[in-house]
This record gives sequence, C-alpha cells and structure tokens, in this order.
Amino acid sequence: MPRTFLVTGGAGYIGSNVVALLVARGDRAIAYDDLSSGRPERVRHLGAELIQGDVRDEEKLAQALRGVDGVLHFAARKQVGESGQLPLLYYDVNVNGTRALLSAMVRTGVQPFIFSSSAAVYGEPRTGTVPEEAETRPINPYGETKLAGEWIARAAARAHGLRVTLLRYFNVAGAPAEPLLADVECLNLVPIALRAARRGAALSVFGRSYATRDGSCVRDYVHVSDLADAHIFAMDRLLEGDGGDTYNVGTGHGVSVLEVASAVRQSSGLALRTVDAPPRAGDPGELVADVSRIQTRLGWRARHTSIDEIVGSAFRAGSGA
Ligand code: UFG
Repeated sequence: MPRTFLVTGGAGYIGSNVVALLVARGDRAIAYDDLSSGRPERVRHLGAELIQGDVRDEEKLAQALRGVDGVLHFAARKQVGESGQLPLLYYDVNVNGTRALLSAMVRTGVQPFIFSSSAAVYGEPRTGTVPEEAETRPINPYGETKLAGEWIARAAARAHGLRVTLLRYFNVAGAPAEPLLADVECLNLVPIALRAARRGAALSVFGRSYATRDGSCVRDYVHVSDLADAHIFAMDRLLEGDGGDTYNVGTGHGVSVLEVASAVRQSSGLALRTVDAPPRAGDPGELVADVSRIQTRLGWRARHTSIDEIVGSAFRAGSGA
C-alpha cells in the first residue's frame, strides 16, 4: 500500500533524491522546504507536492503532518565554515527546527523519523575509520547542531515513543541521470574541482603534509543515489516497527583530494591543475566510515564505490558548470 512521507528540505540536493526514490516506488512525498537553497522545479519535475514553509514553524508542520506515515528531515544549514560565522543561525535552524518538527510529530502521532546527521559529529577522530560508537566531539557549530539534533531526537524517542534513525553522512557527491537532481552549489570538493576544470582554473589542495598516502586529506565519498537508498532501507525498517538506530553512511573506502583531482581529469577529459594550499582549520587528515553496522543490520551497501563513477556522474549532470 502506498504511504505518505513528509520530506523537509525535499527541494534540496539530497532531499530531492530521496523524494525521487519514494515517488518512483509509488509512495506519496510531500516536500516541505523554505526554498532558501532548494529548487521548486525539482519537486515539480518529480510530481511531488511542495509546501513552502520554515522548519521552525511548528503549526505549519503540524498541518503538513496530517495523514503522514513517516518523516525524513533534511532541512538544515550545512556549511561548516559559515556555521563558525553564523552560529546562532545554525542553532536556530538546525536545532530549533528539529525540535519544532519533533514536537509537531508528537502532537500529530507520527512516529517514524529519519534524521540527516553528519560525520561532522565525530570531530577529529583518533582513527581514520570511524565506527558509530566512536566519541562524538564536533569541532564546529555545524557539527554541534547535528549532534544536538541527534540528542533531541533520541530523547523524544524515549519520552514519546517516536521511532528514530540517525544517519551520519560522510562526503556526499555525484548525481543520478537527471541533471535537475545534481548538486548545483559549489560548496564541496567535487563540484569545486569540476568547476575549476571547466574554467581552466587551479584546484587548491588544502594541506599536503597529512599522514595519508599522498599527504592530502582522505574522505569517504558516497554517491547521492546510494545515500538516498539508505533512507529507504532505514524508513522501511522503522515502518516494520523497529525502534531505530544510528548508522554511518559511506562506502568504507578513503579517497584523497589528489585522487579526486585525477578522477575529475579522467571522467571529464579536461585538464586540472592543483596547487598546494595551507591546511584548512579543523580538517581531520582522514575521515572514513566503518560501514559494518549498516551492512549487517539494514543490508545496505553502497553500489557506486569508484570515485571515477561518482565524479563522472556529477560531471555529466552539469555540476560545477
Ligand atoms: N578541499 C580542498 N580544496 C577545496 C575544497 C576542499 O582540498 O577547494 C578538501 C578539504 O580540505 C577536505 C576535502 O577536500 O579534505 C573535502 O572537503 P569538503 O569541504 O568537500 O567536505 P568536508 O569533508 O570538509 O565536509 C563534508 C561536508 C560536511 C560534513 C562532512 C562530514 O561538507 O557537511 O563532510 O565528513 F559534515
């Protein structure tokens, strides 16, 4: 039987990819988005409903939740650097927004809840490959707000019977075949490197003296379609009555900044120069997901594990143009 889901941030990069999967399998998706960075044409194209609203508006959320079977919560500010300059805005949107949404869920009796958390909750982990039990010590306000969101959601689950799954995303990149669903903002390494290649500019490599195989930072790049799939796996488990859990979402493989640059050359056929730049404050040398829990408990694993494939999909969808 088709279900109805409220997807906050459903007009954004990751949210719209989840809306696409829900609609494709015959479910009804209602995107709730303030359109500050989301694009309404994504939702229209997918044939989903759009409610333009602020995630801190509890009344509007409570109305939107009528007849809803589950909630996927993407709406948030997500730039690490900006969070240092505008911490109060980040706490307001990310923490108060999550609180308002959970409160509206309690009022309307909707229980299944998936929260977009981040590897940023780990801060600078002692080991490069991080399991979910690792200490959570965020080093920027963005990561703090994601950790606070996890706490509120867990507390609401204990007190009010919500069923909550926290997904800690690693570095999300790539695009499905539909260009509208690509990441059009140039805020992260893959689109930044693609833009540099398209413009004949150089890519700055932040730090070349890390204790990694080539001295540049190593991250775990996960394809947005795989990440979107993980939400479907997690939501289906909650709908079966499961109480929820915390999962890393990544590939389990580390890729360096220089390797991303090679993948850009390889997949675009364009030249890309790199220049060494000073390390960025608060950048851990290596951050890779231990993905054994999500594999074992949900049966999910990333299908796109090659960085060439991930970067190539972003290039073909027009990322960095
Ligand atoms: N980098 C460069 N040059 C650039 C841009 C980035 O060398 O011009 C490097 C960074 O130093 C880092 C890597 O590329 O080592 C990836 O950087 P991003 O800014 O794309 O991503 P981050 O790893 O800093 O952060 C991302 C998300 C966060 C999330 C985090 C979790 O942006 O929201 O992953 O791992 F919290």
